[in-house]
Amino acid sequence: QGAAALQQDLVGRRVVISAGGTREPLDPVRFLGNRSSGKQGWALARVAAARGADVVLVAANVELPAPFGVRVVDVGTAEELRAAMLAEAVDSGQGAADVVVMTAAVADFRPENVATTKLKKDSAAEPSSVPLARNPDVLVELVTKRAAGQLVVGFAAETGDDEGDVLAHGRAKLARKGCDLLVVNDVSGGQAFGRPDNAAVVLGADGSAVEVPRGSKDAVAAAIWTAVAPRLGRPTD
Ligand code: CTP
Ligand code: CA
Repeated sequence: QGAAALQQDLVGRRVVISAGGTREPLDPVRFLGNRSSGKQGWALARVAAARGADVVLVAANVELPAPFGVRVVDVGTAEELRAAMLAEAVDSGQGAADVVVMTAAVADFRPENVATTKLKKDSAAEPSSVPLARNPDVLVELVTKRAAGQLVVGFAAETGDDEGDVLAHGRAKLARKGCDLLVVNDVSGGQAFGRPDNAAVVLGADGSAVEVPRGSKDAVAAAIWTAVAPRLGRPTD
């Protein structure tokens, strides 16, 4: 642990991490959301900064103090998260980021219509359903627009089912998304959300699989960076 604290394997690297969960408005006071706490993304940012990286956190509805030395860009919806990720990781004035990590739980759908005034229960037409529109897939877009040498890392919480086990779903998702690494969480037992600890397997597009033992989110973050750092090319200035 002492040696890990002194590790400086991310000096000179620009890292952009999304965290939290998007909220898709129905009206000025209501939204469709999810339970992502943002803690794993925060831990990744904290550890990357401690190892010397220049870190930006694109935070969707996270109420945690900014980790030391990390710039936080607050967003609400998937569309805002998309715009912020592209601005920070692809089109920033400093050139493309070295690593992009998508830990945010991005809503797959949003209400198709957003009321400009609060929906009232006694209005003429009581709604029986909410029409939804599909949100953009930010990870896929980042992969499509990735710069040479840039590493793109996705996250996935999976459960086993009739179609396959957790790792089979992870492998299929990694291939579908086209990212370099996919960090797969097994959430079969209803674990993970809001919990302080975590466990994962880091799957690589090259067929590799690195098991991250159960531990604190900081320990998991450290193990993830240890898997990522050797994959980065020589630092540029
Ligand atoms: N993701 C994204 N944009 C979306 C949905 C997901 O960028 N609209 C990213 C997440 O941040 C995560 C990865 O894609 O890094 C996997 O998210 P997940 O919800 O597991 O993937 P989906 O393709 O939406 O698959 P599923 O049908 O299992 O929800
Ligand atoms: Ca999804």
